[in-house]
Amino acid sequence: MTAQTEIAPLQWSEALVLGDAKTDTTHQEFIDLVHKTEAATGTEQSTLYADLVAHTVEHFGQEERWMLAAGLNAGHCHFSEHRNVLEVMKEVERRAALGETHLIANMLEALAEWFPMHATSMDAGLVEYLQTTGFDTATESFKGEAPTIELAAPEQGCGTHHDNNAPKDC
Ligand SMILES: [Fe+2]
Ligand SMILES: [Fe+2]
Repeated sequence: MTAQTEIAPLQWSEALVLGDAKTDTTHQEFIDLVHKTEAATGTEQSTLYADLVAHTVEHFGQEERWMLAAGLNAGHCHFSEHRNVLEVMKEVERRAALGETHLIANMLEALAEWFPMHATSMDAGLVEYLQTTGFDTATESFKGEAPTIELAAPEQGCGTHHDNNAPKDC
């Protein structure tokens, strides 16, 4: 008999609250869409999965706009992690449309495992950083005077160079 790893179900909880209303709402919507897609079957599931992909494009795009506005460049590992996840999600959408619909359930399981880690590391670091810089995610502008931002080094990425205030959870 093979040992099976139990994956905790994805659910909204205090542990996922990051303290930025826009981020928390987006994350709740993401979890809700994952659940709806899980519960659906057939064409309805494919449609909901397409909605989840579209929502994730917006979700990641929003965080990436904030990062760029706050002086983090696109070489930061948060960007590449988003890119990698979206690439797989879109590939699943493409293959499911060709008949491999079982891949959707696999993808949802992988997302359920991935999301809490991402939210509590990279997204939590981003929220903290944005709050330090005075960036307001609701208006996508800086509160008060715009800070002087030193752009992060282009090679900044996972486990390499970080500037002093940038999120460090790479
Ligand atoms: Fe996020
Ligand atoms: Fe993120």
